[in-house]
Amino acid sequence: MLIKNIKQLLQVRQDKIESPLKGDDLKNLSIIENAWLRIKDDRIESFGSMDQCNPIQNEETIDANGKVVLPSFVDSHTHLVFAGSREEEFVMRLHGKSYEEIAEAGGGVLNSAKKLQEKTEDELFEAAKQRLHEVISMGTGAIEIKSGYGLTVETELKMLRVIKRLKEYSPIPIKASFLGAHFYPAEFKQNHEAYLKLIIDEMLPIIEKEGLADYIDAFCEKVAFSAEETDRIIKAGLKHGLKPKIHTNQFNCMRGIEVSVANNAISVDHLEVINEAEIEVLKNSNTIATLLPSAPFFLNDPYQPARQIIDAGIPVALASDYNPGSTPSGRMSFVISLACIKLKMTPEEAFNAATINGAFALELQENYGSISVGKKANLIITKEIESFGFIPYSFGSDQIDSIILNGKTI
Ligand code: NIG
Ligand code: FE
Repeated sequence: MLIKNIKQLLQVRQDKIESPLKGDDLKNLSIIENAWLRIKDDRIESFGSMDQCNPIQNEETIDANGKVVLPSFVDSHTHLVFAGSREEEFVMRLHGKSYEEIAEAGGGVLNSAKKLQEKTEDELFEAAKQRLHEVISMGTGAIEIKSGYGLTVETELKMLRVIKRLKEYSPIPIKASFLGAHFYPAEFKQNHEAYLKLIIDEMLPIIEKEGLADYIDAFCEKVAFSAEETDRIIKAGLKHGLKPKIHTNQFNCMRGIEVSVANNAISVDHLEVINEAEIEVLKNSNTIATLLPSAPFFLNDPYQPARQIIDAGIPVALASDYNPGSTPSGRMSFVISLACIKLKMTPEEAFNAATINGAFALELQENYGSISVGKKANLIITKEIESFGFIPYSFGSDQIDSIILNGKTI
């Protein structure tokens, strides 16, 4: 299949990208104006500038006149499997309660855990499937999904089995993270040790045996897990072959970055608050800073200091954090708008962070995240627009005309 007359072909990479983009490299979104791209089977075969386009007789052709083509978004942080919404907490916050107060009072993650207890695996699968189709239609072409609304052996495994079924079903790749350390269940609030034992001695061995997860996650926060507890969870996960991707620095700096980096985490996620010393630690590591601007948007919190993080030379990824509590949206184009408007990232930085750096944050960079020969043809074709800057500019509108997954228009 040939796509011709592409107004702008974004994120074109001829050479292999060895590591997540940072500093000046993050500022550069390699673009071909007036381009063509050819797909063979499910992969990108070749591309170039229209003045060197050689159409093959009778080949299927899409005329992308006036349209922008880019690699699908890689959403490297979501909680897509959940049971029911939490708009009552949203309204409570509008009446002055904070996210942490609601969580302390048994709402928040525990509220979602209670709802999830009552659902069958099939019900959870069907609901998650709908959400997966929703985010695919909004341009997501690879995704991570976490457990963490189970918080018992049985229900954490139930969530992970749902994610495993989604992996088998999904036209886009899915990576699974085990987030048993999302919150202490009420009965373990005074006995952290017992819950940690449950995670380490009971959940993790089964997860490894059944191949239910790719990564280990924990919520390092005052209302959840301390840095020491997070460290124990990470080390236990590593023993079972799970690399760390960690929730930290959402509300408080409490050494979550330090322990994550010390354990060679793939990413540290959230970072609404971060101090100079932590920036220094990240700068000297291979860990990606994954920013989730939809969460502070929805919770009305301060945004991630992206400029400080980027200007220190740290690679950043952007992800949605789609979940029922802090981010009931998986729209990556809105994440990119927020990154530009509120985090003061340039559109070039934001598209890099939401494509190739997201792919690195899921170890999918060999096959996703850029327009490169041999990579999977997961692409977005926009409506007719003046330039790619129109995508973050026109926040709230959908600029997608069509989606190509595995080389086929869907
Ligand atoms: O990434 N902060 C921790 N976990 C989720 C929200 C969980 C919830 O409120 O359901 C997050 O924002
Ligand atoms: Fe999250």
